[in-house]
Amino acid sequence: MDFKVAVIKGDGIGPEVVDETIKVLSKIEERYNHKFNYQYVLAGGIAIDKTGNPLPEETLNVCRNSQAVLLGAVGGPKWDNPSAEVRPEQALLGLRGGLNLYCNLRPALLYAPLRNASPLKDSIIGDGIDISVVRELTGGIYFGERKLEKIDDEEIAYDTEKYSTSEVRRIAKIAFEIAMQRNKKVTSVDKANILESSRLWRRVVSEVAEDYKEVELNHLYIDNATMQLVKDPRQFDVIVTSNMFGDILSDEASMITGSIGMLPSASLGENSFGMYEPIHGSAPDIAGKGIANPLATILSAAMMLRYSFKLEEEAKVIENAVIKVLEEGYRTGDIMSEGMKITSTKQMGDLVVERI
Ligand code: IPM
Ligand code: MG
Repeated sequence: MDFKVAVIKGDGIGPEVVDETIKVLSKIEERYNHKFNYQYVLAGGIAIDKTGNPLPEETLNVCRNSQAVLLGAVGGPKWDNPSAEVRPEQALLGLRGGLNLYCNLRPALLYAPLRNASPLKDSIIGDGIDISVVRELTGGIYFGERKLEKIDDEEIAYDTEKYSTSEVRRIAKIAFEIAMQRNKKVTSVDKANILESSRLWRRVVSEVAEDYKEVELNHLYIDNATMQLVKDPRQFDVIVTSNMFGDILSDEASMITGSIGMLPSASLGENSFGMYEPIHGSAPDIAGKGIANPLATILSAAMMLRYSFKLEEEAKVIENAVIKVLEEGYRTGDIMSEGMKITSTKQMGDLVVERI
């Protein structure tokens, strides 16, 4: 089959990790007789440098005319001034909003061969960590009205957390659907003891739960959830939460797996359209050195095959190849430990390709 993919290599290590991923996808094309038609477009810092705009209109158009978007990473110290008018992060928010990618899946999976990398005690990790964080991605305080104003000689700023029933319902449904494929447990995280928007969130999630009697639902406040995640991560199966709480919780969830360089993500919209990117950032400190870990981007491509192209077998083949490489002891610097074999970005890509 033929598929149209928009590719955004972005900044820092983005281009290196995307190149390895394209290599892996070529092997899939060969083995399964598919054709991925790539269109390379700019976003982030490199787009600011070349066009003055972190998200050129052309990029959005190419993405809209594709079936999926593969993204490396955006941002870096060169553009890292929070009060600057144009910033690379605007590209991310613009892509999410502009492509209506309201559902962000961030699986936090502890790969058995990388157990030692987790900062948590063995007794807490038990037989492993496998949490699926479902973050609402186009609503809430990141998209609500915001303003900085001057009243007399005081400055006042505000941002608005706002959710509608339909926004909560569609993300909750996805969380329950995912839970049905997993361990049938959903934890909804909010701050319903304070926030009106959270009370609505909680009510709507509970309503959606009525349609999924087999799934156990519980609610946690965000402050308690951050604590529970390090105290007893095995209590979680699927976590569903708002844009900001999901931003925070997904970073924490990735940290306890010990290998942020390993974790993929999918941002999904309607009709199987999605954007796929590693959770890690552009890692400017190691960019261009050929030592970055390409596995999170390779695993993101596997999610692309699964969710946008419905190629479950091909997705599994990539994931199994990655696990095999780890079991055989190959490691990039970020996940290196004693007795393992250090590899470069390119070698890691080749190792995965050879196991497909
Ligand atoms: C993420 C990032 C982004 C976010 C930033 C870079 C805008 O932290 O994808 O989690 O806050 O969503
Ligand atoms: Mg974040």
